[in-house]
Amino acid sequence: MSLVKRCRPHRSPGLPVLVVGALALAAGLAGGPASAASQDTLHDLASAQGKYFGSATDNPELPDAAYAAKLGSEFGQITPGNSMKWDTTEPTRGRFDFAKGDVITDFAQEHGQTVRGHTLVWHSQLPGWVGALPSTEVETAMTDHITAEATHYRGEVAAWDVVNEPFNEDGTFRTSPFYNAMGKDYIAKALRAAHAADPDAKLYINDYNVEGKGAKSDAMYNLVSDLLDEGVPLDGVGMQAHLAIQYGFPYQMQANMQRFADLGLDVAVTELDVRMQLPADAAKLATQSSYYAQVVDACLAVERCVGITVWDYTDKYSWVPSTFPGEGAANLYDDGLAPKPAYAAVRTALGDDGDDDGGDDGGDGGTPGTLKALYRANDTAAGDNQIKPGLQLVNTGTAPVSLPAVTVRYWFSGDNGATTYGSWCDWSPIGCSTITHRVVAASSPKSGADHYLEVGFTGGTLAPGAATGEMQLRLSKTDWSNFNESDDYSHGTGASYADASKVTVYVGGALVWGIEP
Ligand code: XIL
Repeated sequence: MSLVKRCRPHRSPGLPVLVVGALALAAGLAGGPASAASQDTLHDLASAQGKYFGSATDNPELPDAAYAAKLGSEFGQITPGNSMKWDTTEPTRGRFDFAKGDVITDFAQEHGQTVRGHTLVWHSQLPGWVGALPSTEVETAMTDHITAEATHYRGEVAAWDVVNEPFNEDGTFRTSPFYNAMGKDYIAKALRAAHAADPDAKLYINDYNVEGKGAKSDAMYNLVSDLLDEGVPLDGVGMQAHLAIQYGFPYQMQANMQRFADLGLDVAVTELDVRMQLPADAAKLATQSSYYAQVVDACLAVERCVGITVWDYTDKYSWVPSTFPGEGAANLYDDGLAPKPAYAAVRTALGDDGDDDGGDDGGDGGTPGTLKALYRANDTAAGDNQIKPGLQLVNTGTAPVSLPAVTVRYWFSGDNGATTYGSWCDWSPIGCSTITHRVVAASSPKSGADHYLEVGFTGGTLAPGAATGEMQLRLSKTDWSNFNESDDYSHGTGASYADASKVTVYVGGALVWGIEP
């Protein structure tokens, strides 16, 4: 085999690009956010939560300077969309060509990004010679391929999708030259070969439609459980997450991720996009926003979810329209590289507070009007093991507000006991299924406010003058130890709903109501 020698052309670093207007776009707010001059990037926000935020890219896109600048600035990780696949790297047996992949790893190094290598063993984009081999030669060809490629990228690729798409939809193994020659053992053999070539790379099995619970993810769960039992080197499961709003959100994504994490594996969202039937409209884009936000929420809620990669960040370079005729608009930015509502929703889900320091620390000025929060305590026991805020939102502005762009924070202190929480929505006229909730540890904890209950929405629009009606929320620590609510920042004792300046409201991540602690 011949290993093409690395050449490292020097490229000027991409200019940092400021994303302006994304937040206002989310809801068409009159007031809009404060200046976006030093806005955190998606990766900054994710990093503040211990995750990365990345994008796929492809060689033909890189000469597009505006595209490359944003790719280099907004994202902390990149995945080559095509240039590390077998048909590119070993089109003829034993003749390796890593030139295109090297362009991607060079770009990453110049922009301080990590690289997910994609992919070593896959039934697709496989040169014809592999399928034409006598089955007795397939294992050697596979091992040679993995060894050459993983050795070449040693130290440059942080994680490999060693095996891609091993399953059919019903959870049976997909036939391929590899499966046909070796049965399911090809997966263990591939992982061992990759580990031998690059012992430091994180090794993944990657597939689609394994994001939620179902036959296919059950099959993945059984496979990886067996591999771990056998001592096969495996670090993680990649969930591609090519979602479509017309098919619904994956069933129990967070719990599904958690069951893999509980095996001791990392989980990564590797190819996220959310397509829709064209033409796009505001309602579809709002649904799309909520899907993106729910994926972020699921990853943030699972400690071993290491990060999220979007399958390119702009509709301009999406694989969707050519693969799914009539569908598209799947990405965070539009064809003109302008951020879409989903971009704001992702920022909000990542905990953006409009500051430039990677997440929440309070201290924004805020914009008066537009939305206000009303609050009452739904329990009178301030010393028991549950906190029950009742909240309502009212649109006091003149423009409709898209609820997926909105988040609300009820600030409290966790006191002693467990630092993990459960939260519930007990009732709301808008339906608890529309309401998301989670407890977040404040990045700048204050007395009476080291945590907040964050409330969000999966859909809906609040017309001018309209109100959500009551949202009956509840939270507790997982050890059910007591709180002392009397000193909590957002806590009040009034028996009826009243304007609550200590409950804060955000649109597209910008504070629009209340005073942070
Ligand atoms: C896609 C690329 O984005 C396209 O450019 C190419 O024509 C086909 O492959 N799952 C995967 C990716 O694991 O490798 C696929 O990428 C998208 C689906």
